Amino acid sequence: MSSASLFEAPLDRARKHALEYLHSLEDSSVAATLTWEELRQRLSYPLQDGGMDASEVIDQLVADVDGGLTGSAGGRFFAWVIGGSVPAALAADWLTSTWDQNAGLYVCSPATAVVEEIAGAWLKDLLGLPEAASFALVTGCQMAHATALAAARNALLADRDWDVEKRGLFGAPPLRVLCGDRHGTVTRAVRLLGFGTDCLVDLPVDDDGRLRGDVLRQALVESAGAPTVVLLQAGNIDTGIFDPFEELITIAHEHNAWVHVDGAFGMWVAASPSYRHLVAGVERADSWATDGHKWLNVPYDSGYAFVANPEAHRASMSQRAGYLTHSDAARDQMDWNPEHSRRARGVATYAAIRQLGRRGIADLVDRCCGYAADIVTAIGALPGVEVLCQPLINQGVVRFLDTHPGATLDDHNRRTDAVIASLIEDGEAYFSGTSWGDMRCMRVSVSSWQTTESDVERTIRAVERCI
Ligand SMILES: Cc1ncc(COP(=O)(O)O)c(C=O)c1O
Repeated sequence: MSSASLFEAPLDRARKHALEYLHSLEDSSVAATLTWEELRQRLSYPLQDGGMDASEVIDQLVADVDGGLTGSAGGRFFAWVIGGSVPAALAADWLTSTWDQNAGLYVCSPATAVVEEIAGAWLKDLLGLPEAASFALVTGCQMAHATALAAARNALLADRDWDVEKRGLFGAPPLRVLCGDRHGTVTRAVRLLGFGTDCLVDLPVDDDGRLRGDVLRQALVESAGAPTVVLLQAGNIDTGIFDPFEELITIAHEHNAWVHVDGAFGMWVAASPSYRHLVAGVERADSWATDGHKWLNVPYDSGYAFVANPEAHRASMSQRAGYLTHSDAARDQMDWNPEHSRRARGVATYAAIRQLGRRGIADLVDRCCGYAADIVTAIGALPGVEVLCQPLINQGVVRFLDTHPGATLDDHNRRTDAVIASLIEDGEAYFSGTSWGDMRCMRVSVSSWQTTESDVERTIRAVERCI
């Protein structure tokens, strides 16, 4: 028997289990039903001396995790910002594992290097970014921030005759990052890069959460000459709102600041003719971070960094070693990515874009925005519900009020958390909470290609039941 035939049975089992799982998403609980203790009890076998049959490993694994997975791959998961996987992307991801390529160097995997090169070009086209921008296909928006801000660090300090790649940050002119609203992954990126969180300057935002031009200008004037990144947002995590890019990027560039855009999900509105006005001018920024595993519906983990200054990007990432074989003409991913060895994760992105096409991606964006609006409107019409944010795109915010006379903020907060808990227990749809000022709220986030009108109806009935 050839070694290849040893794969047959476990792969057959995996295919069977995978399809059963995908079909089960329609009717099984969207929330995990097992506790941490139960899962540990099931999965913590003593580390055995001998091995076991590969198919048995797969069968047992599937049986043991049953009840411990959330239905985030299905159509009624509206927590955080989580997309599913379109079929071509999932299948391509399986093949990526089968091919098991080390996609760090072109010579290691010529075909996947070219697939990724093309995927990068398509992404820039879909997102309306400059053709000349460089890119890196990374694990998620977190690493996209780290990659883009490493390029920013390189360029801003090179302008001040400081070679950060060689000299590091000790003794360098201190960098600062001017932020309006900021996702926690930006905070972590500046920690990882050695800027330190003291570099973060939180500027006041307007009532809608947008950074204002006069506020940014004032902050730039106050420390003129300092190497500065301006962080802008395409899609706030709770409200989905966008900073006014045209105005803010013009101001930032007048002061020689580097503009980085966090567009983890919001950048994808650029692919929709109905929503792309929201990112007007964003293409003039210096770097952008977004995700494939959110709105493009590519399996985890998939994020994208783009940099308008390829020299700074390459200088911050590239490395050479005598034992490696570098390419002159072709793209070595190692020159742009923070990893050395890496999975050819761009293959799934390539496949998703091929399956959906430009129109399919626009439809996906429009559909999710429409369903988010439908869910928030219908929940908002129920008794004791307050809508705090009607979706601008695919994110909305509501809260559940305690209707007893004299109910306090704490009562409303308890009521909101109780309704979210009861929805999770109910298992028909899954939502997560957030804090908005002192208020506890429930987020409504729709990013999956799987969500249908019937899912929306089932979800609304579940909310009715739980309140
Ligand atoms: C606005 C924003 N930025 C960054 C991130 C982090 O993305 P990732 O989890 O892919 O690192 C998220 C995740 O929800 C987000 O919404």
